[in-house]
Amino acid sequence: MKNIGIIGAGTMGIGIAQVAASAGCKVYLYDTKPEQIQKSLVDLKQTLDRLVEKLKLSVEECNAIISSIHPCTTLSEFTPCDLVIEAIVENKEVKTKVYVEIESVVSDRCIISSNTSSISITSLSAELKNPERFIGIHFFNPAPVMALVEIIPGLLTGQKLATEIEMIMKSWGKIPVIAKDVPGFIVNRIARPFYGEALRIVEENLATHEQVDDAMRTLGNFRMGPFELMDLIGIDVNFAVTKTVYTDYFFDAKYKPSLLQQRMSEARLWGRKTGKGFYNYSENAAKPQPQQNDELYTMIFNRIISMLINEAVEAKRLGIADDNAIELAVQKALNYPKGLLAWGQEIGYQQISETLQLLYNDYQEERYRQSPLLRKL
Ligand SMILES: NC(=O)c1ccc[n+]([C@@H]2O[C@H](COP(=O)([O-])OP(=O)(O)OC[C@H]3O[C@@H](n4cnc5c(N)ncnc54)[C@H](O)[C@@H]3O)[C@@H](O)[C@H]2O)c1
Repeated sequence: MKNIGIIGAGTMGIGIAQVAASAGCKVYLYDTKPEQIQKSLVDLKQTLDRLVEKLKLSVEECNAIISSIHPCTTLSEFTPCDLVIEAIVENKEVKTKVYVEIESVVSDRCIISSNTSSISITSLSAELKNPERFIGIHFFNPAPVMALVEIIPGLLTGQKLATEIEMIMKSWGKIPVIAKDVPGFIVNRIARPFYGEALRIVEENLATHEQVDDAMRTLGNFRMGPFELMDLIGIDVNFAVTKTVYTDYFFDAKYKPSLLQQRMSEARLWGRKTGKGFYNYSENAAKPQPQQNDELYTMIFNRIISMLINEAVEAKRLGIADDNAIELAVQKALNYPKGLLAWGQEIGYQQISETLQLLYNDYQEERYRQSPLLRKL
């Protein structure tokens, strides 16, 4: 696999281009906006220059990466590609149109893939003449930094393709995990309660967002609390993913989006990228100090971690991925301090089950239903 085509030169496209070029591949990079390719290449050069300054990369390596990336003005330049990774706008119709075009350009042996975060791989492959060559390859942001890559075969994907991509990703220095084609795949499904339950606690005025973040950092050793992380990801993006997972699971109450998040999204309070989200990112903004409260913090932590562990156990029960993949997913894509199954064992699955039962008794909501596997572990 030497010639890699990347469609879309935005945040993810240029990141994946860097990963592939660093692994010695020749990268063909196309975007409908040629100026976006130029901008991304300038940004990439700056990033690499900083790595050279810090002695993490040699000047020769930096030059080799940049010169391996070939900006393309049309998709017809992708003819030599062995693997094409699409990283364009998250819109099924637009993506499908691009696959039809790319299929007419590349050879029959070329693998075509999507970096989609939330669209079903099976549905994306449906328009291809040969859907067997199509697969999901889901990198995380920033692609050169986050080690995890989810590989998602759809119902029509050829049998051996996932294993082939697994080997390629390993050779690119990544940690690949194979996931079923379900909404949110592994990471975006298992992680939903980290945001959803935190938002609910704040919506119910049980705690402030600063307190929730502080509780998760101090009691759970999370590097970032849910609200800090939402501000980093982008409230709009996080809300869109939640809505998709909720809709695609036929409105399962477990994934119900938050009104608070919807209002923040409408107000363009998107977090770091707009200067204000749950926190204020303007230069002189004061850093708010949460009022610490042991009992409250324990409640917050127990509630969120129990929901997360329940979700991981349900993913195990449904065979969305194997245990190892479930454990790696949150640690290598989201920097969680531990795998959720190991964490469940450490806390005790019975205690997790009791916490969820209490929540269920209180709220009488499907949201707090337990995985049938939880009580058997
Ligand atoms: N940003 C993330 O954190 C993240 C993480 C994982 C996966 N993804 C997924 O990766 C994909 C890209 O996301 P992004 O954040 O890089 O988006 P982005 O908006 O930064 O970049 C998308 C690029 O695609 C280009 N584009 C749009 N339509 C095109 C077309 N028809 N042909 C060629 N180029 C086209 C745009 O000009 C833009 O430069 C999406 O499917 C997204 O869901 C994003």
